[in-house]
Amino acid sequence: MSQLFTPYSIKDVTFRNRIGLAPMCQYSAVDGIMNDWHQVHLGSRATGGAGLIIAEATAVRADGRITPGCVGLWNDNQIEPASKINQFIAEQGAVPAVQIGHAGRKGSAAAPWDGGAHLKDDEGGWPTVGPSGAAFDSEGVRLWKTPTQMSIAEIAQMQNAFVEAAKRALAAGYKMLEIHGAHGYLLHSFFTPLVNTRDDEYGGDLRGRARMMLETVEAVRAVWPENLPLAVRLSVADWVEGGLTIEDNIQMAKWVKERGVDIVDCSSGGATPAARASIGPRTAEQVGLAGQLRAEAGIATMAVGEITEAKQAEEIIASGQADIVLLARKMMRDPYWAMHAALELGVDVKAHLPHQYGFYIG
Ligand SMILES: Cc1cc2nc3c(=O)[nH]c(=O)nc-3n(C[C@H](O)[C@H](O)[C@H](O)COP(=O)(O)O)c2cc1C
Repeated sequence: MSQLFTPYSIKDVTFRNRIGLAPMCQYSAVDGIMNDWHQVHLGSRATGGAGLIIAEATAVRADGRITPGCVGLWNDNQIEPASKINQFIAEQGAVPAVQIGHAGRKGSAAAPWDGGAHLKDDEGGWPTVGPSGAAFDSEGVRLWKTPTQMSIAEIAQMQNAFVEAAKRALAAGYKMLEIHGAHGYLLHSFFTPLVNTRDDEYGGDLRGRARMMLETVEAVRAVWPENLPLAVRLSVADWVEGGLTIEDNIQMAKWVKERGVDIVDCSSGGATPAARASIGPRTAEQVGLAGQLRAEAGIATMAVGEITEAKQAEEIIASGQADIVLLARKMMRDPYWAMHAALELGVDVKAHLPHQYGFYIG
C-alpha cells in the first residue's frame, strides 16, 4: 500500500495524495493579475494528478513583488482571475493553495531571463524595504538596491497587508494559505541575523527577530478560517556561518505551531549571496531537515528539493520525513509526474486523475 498515494487531511481539507506542486514564480502577470499562462501552468499539474497545487509567491503589496511580472493579491481586481483558476483546480480534485509574501530587499528585480538584476525606479522598479538598511549585493552587483529600514509603524502596515491579502485569497477560493518566510525575502530577512541588525523589539535575539513572523502569523490566522490549513515556508538553514540553523528553525516551528500554523514547508538558503541558493543540487539536504523538524517540533512538514523519483517520494513519506512532498522543476518537466508515479508504484491511478483521463488509463 503506497503511503504517497494515501489521502491526507488537515482540518477540513483532504488531499487525494501527498504530492504537491511547489510554488514557482512565473514572472508572467501584468499588474499582479493571473492569466491564461497561470491557468495552464497550475491547471495542468492538477489534471496531472497532484493533490496540492501551490500558486507562486504572490505579493501582498505592489512593492512586495520580486519582479514586475509577479502575481499579487494587493487589490480586488486580482481576485476574480485567480478564482477562475482555483475553481478549475478544485474540479480536478486537487487543493488550490497560494503562497503570500513580500520580497523585501530582493524585490524590484528583472525576470531571471532578463538577467534578474535590480531595476532602477525609473525603469520599472521601485524602492525596497527591509528590517535593516543593507543591500543584498554590493554596489554595482545584481541586487544592489539599498532598502529603507522599516519603522515600527511600517511594520504594522506590512502585517496588515498580509491580512488583507489573506482575505482576498479566501475570496479567490484558495483552500490552503502559505506564508512565505524563506529565501531571504522580507519575513526571512527579519528572522536571520545575517540581515536583521535592528536593536529594537523586532531585532536582537532569536525571539526578537522572530517577532515579525510571529505577529504576521497571528494576524493572518485571525482572518484565515480555523477549518482551513495554514502553512509557513521557512529556510530551515541559512547554510552560512553565523546564520540560522535547523535548531533555530525548530524553535520557530514550535512558535508558529502555537499560533495556529498546521504545516511547515521546509526549504533553505537565499538570505545572502554567500548563502546556498534555494534552487540547486544541494537542496536535497532539506529533505532530511524536514524530517528532523517534524520529529523535534512535532508539526507536519512538506519536503522539497531534488525530489524526482516515485520511490524516493514514497520513501520520504513512508519514513516519516514529511507529510507531503513538493516538486518544482521535475513537475515543470512532467506535469503528469503524479500519474506516472502512481503507475510505477502500482497504484490505481483512477482516483488521482480526472474522469476524462482516468477512465482510459490504468
Ligand atoms: C522557476 C522557479 C520559480 C520558483 N518560485 C518560487 C516561489 O515563488 N516561491 C518559493 O518559495 N520557491 C520558489 N521556487 C523554489 C521551489 O519552490 C523549490 O523549493 C525549489 O525549486 C527546489 O525544488 P526542486 O528541486 O523540485 O526544483 C522556485 C523554483 C523555480 C525553479
